[in-house]
Amino acid sequence: MSYHNQVRRITTHVLSEMKLRNEKIAMLTAYDFSMARIIDAAGIDVILVGDSASNVMAGYETTLPITLNEMIYHAASVVRAAKRSLVVVDMPFGTYQGNSKEALSSAIRIMKETGAHAVKMEGGAEIRESIERILSAGIPVMGHLGLTPQSIHKFGTYVVRAKEAEEAQKLREDAKLLEEAGCFALVMEKIPAKLAGEVSESLKIPTIGIGAGPYVDGQVLVIHDMLGITQEFSPRFLRRYHNLYTEIQGAVQNYVKDVRSNDFPNESEMY
Ligand code: KIV
Repeated sequence: MSYHNQVRRITTHVLSEMKLRNEKIAMLTAYDFSMARIIDAAGIDVILVGDSASNVMAGYETTLPITLNEMIYHAASVVRAAKRSLVVVDMPFGTYQGNSKEALSSAIRIMKETGAHAVKMEGGAEIRESIERILSAGIPVMGHLGLTPQSIHKFGTYVVRAKEAEEAQKLREDAKLLEEAGCFALVMEKIPAKLAGEVSESLKIPTIGIGAGPYVDGQVLVIHDMLGITQEFSPRFLRRYHNLYTEIQGAVQNYVKDVRSNDFPNESEMY
């Protein structure tokens, strides 16, 4: 029997057992109570309250503007819905890169004010001190390497990362460093599948890929992308499971028509 059927609450420990058992981990983002309730009941293992909320919820072009208070609002809403999934919250840009003391107080605010189970941070060696300080307070940390959207202005583009030998080697070293520091899992975004597979095999902690091919321990997608709510974003790695943009638009057009024609409400829809 798989963990999916046995386990009451997914924990970081369950995720490492899943890796040992070769069971893939399914992770999706969510930012609000209603969506989190649906995906939790559908059996998702990990809900990421991603800073992609900056794009899909707030309409910013990048993930940089979202604030700690805004992330806390989203995360607390998700936690109220999640009965079974592990809830991981992105630490927003500017809350952990500066100094480790500030990083710790940001992580503590997230844990205290939302009830989430872990935080996620982008980067390797350059943020080691912050990661270690947060871990030493007993807060589980998920790492994030490869395309790290908070560094988009350094990269200048959202193309595949670590195709060149030097960057691939840095990613291998950062992955080891994050494992040694005590991270419980690692997200790898938009890197060659072969490299992601090699890193996954070299680590004991589970790896979760997005645009990183199939040789990883789990997959994550942004819920608005996989449901087809966003339309303009179609990278090769994205599988769309629905076209909700069109469905919602159609439903709203029907509602507008019914209101204008006085068809809604009818006799059975009034008191
Ligand atoms: O913010 C986010 O949604 C993420 C995923 C893309 C991994 O970090």
